[in-house]
Amino acid sequence: MDPEIICHCMSISRKEIKKLILEKKVSSPVDVANLTLAGSVCGACIPEIEKMISDEKT
Ligand code: FES
Repeated sequence: MDPEIICHCMSISRKEIKKLILEKKVSSPVDVANLTLAGSVCGACIPEIEKMISDEKT
């Protein structure tokens, strides 16, 4: 398993999500799902996306 892939359903990498958080100022996993579909299938990656968002805010 590639640790850099956060959403395995949609093959979305940590890098892509981080870019969205920084450039588009997304503030919730729902926004990430709307933009990339990450988190829109099984939902298993949502806690990790949430964590990335809160890590960027601090
Ligand atoms: S791993 Fe992201 S929706 Fe399934």
